[in-house]
Amino acid sequence: MVSSEQPRIQWLGRWGFMLAATGSAVGLGNIWKFPYITGEFGGGAFVLVYLACILAVGVPVMMTEIAFGRRGLGSPVDAIRRVVRESGRSSAWSLIGWMAMLCGFMILSFYVVVAGWSFAYLWKMLTGGLAGSSVDDMAAVFEANNANPWNLGFWSTLVTLLTMLIVGKGVQEGIEKSVSWMMPGLVLMLALLIAFGVFSGGFAQAFSFLFSFDAGSLSSEGMLAALGHAFFTLSLASGAILTYGSYLPKGTSIARTTLSVAIADTVVALMAGLAIFPVIFANGMNPAEGPGLIFMSLPLAFQAMPFGTLFGTLFFLMLSMAALTSAISMVEATVSWLCDNKGISRRTASWSTGIVLWLISTLAMLSFNLGADWTLAGKSVFDWLDYLTSRLMMPLGGLGMVVLAGFVLKSETFRDELGLAPLPYALWLSMVRYVSPLGIVVIFIDALGIYQVSFAAHWPLLLAILVAMVALGEALSPRLRPALQARRAL
Ligand code: TRP
Repeated sequence: MVSSEQPRIQWLGRWGFMLAATGSAVGLGNIWKFPYITGEFGGGAFVLVYLACILAVGVPVMMTEIAFGRRGLGSPVDAIRRVVRESGRSSAWSLIGWMAMLCGFMILSFYVVVAGWSFAYLWKMLTGGLAGSSVDDMAAVFEANNANPWNLGFWSTLVTLLTMLIVGKGVQEGIEKSVSWMMPGLVLMLALLIAFGVFSGGFAQAFSFLFSFDAGSLSSEGMLAALGHAFFTLSLASGAILTYGSYLPKGTSIARTTLSVAIADTVVALMAGLAIFPVIFANGMNPAEGPGLIFMSLPLAFQAMPFGTLFGTLFFLMLSMAALTSAISMVEATVSWLCDNKGISRRTASWSTGIVLWLISTLAMLSFNLGADWTLAGKSVFDWLDYLTSRLMMPLGGLGMVVLAGFVLKSETFRDELGLAPLPYALWLSMVRYVSPLGIVVIFIDALGIYQVSFAAHWPLLLAILVAMVALGEALSPRLRPALQARRAL
């Protein structure tokens, strides 16, 4: 174990990490982003690639991240540096930690804008500002909400303030306390909405849209989006999960916790899809509407249902909370790094982070009004923040972490920290050494247009590459065989 100067604070309750990590994972990504990118990239085939990415890349990366955090007991930069030193390797690897911290920060800068939409809609629901009964009325409300920078800025500033307030209060008093009452409720609301969808027509169409596989509808761009979203929705490679892992008590099983978080997250995303698409099809809306999708479609459904105002209010309340429990996880890495390295209090760290965050998020916010023309290659500041983090930084950071864990570090480190039986350990190891890196690299190559990989046509080739990689990797630095031999010795 690597020791730091002071004993690190830990989650107070048995469910502390579980709730906080699920709170981080379940957020706007599940309810806002997943439905609209599924719509954009054509439905079932996208969903399938996304699920494959969660299993083959997301779960192994998440286990690795938590283990890094708990082993290194610090922010991503410090934890990775300590773990790497323990194996006698270069501290330069902590660059992965720097990138992760920056990534979490960049995500939050556009995330608060979307969370601001949710708060604004909560207010509109409460005050009756969502009257209007046609699809066009709803689009007009959404546009009007964005057009005024003072209005939009007010809501994103509010989210920034709330986030920094919670984080400033500390891990147990702020984060743990807030997630333990904010998390329950969202699932219930989604279940009610799905039930509504079943009766309102459009459910069958939504179901087949989400789950019928049409390989032809999947583009390279869609595959990269699916990979990026697997990282985004599990809050990976951006310091959040790693830092939360650094507060995890030693006895807790990393594998089991990871699986529960990943399953909960996936279930919420699919439920959100099943709640939202029926409304879209029943009202003849376009599923490829883009970022405004849920804000334009759901209010229509609420108007048509009995007690719609009540349900609508509860829905946007829950969405706002899901967003907040995610937002706090994104700055925790930076705040924890500042506290550990700069000798400042948590409150000071939190507020100074908040000011920088506010400046960048204001730029992202202006993408929807004054700065609509500040574009580069057709993308606004908001789009660039999203694009750079999801499509580039997260997959790269994840790749760095699995390569580090699989090839560079001493094998005892992770064997120890994960505490798995030989067979599950060998499974994790083969994932981080071969499957996850291959998946990430192939999708990158495909998206860069260097070589078009059609999975349906090339699976024998991909399988052959995988086998060759295993053979080469095990010849150069064998790990799988010793792991499995340990099983025989038991
Ligand atoms: N997972 C969250 C969601 O789906 C978003 C999120 C929270 C996140 N923390 C993160 C994304 C850190 C990337 C990095 O809404």
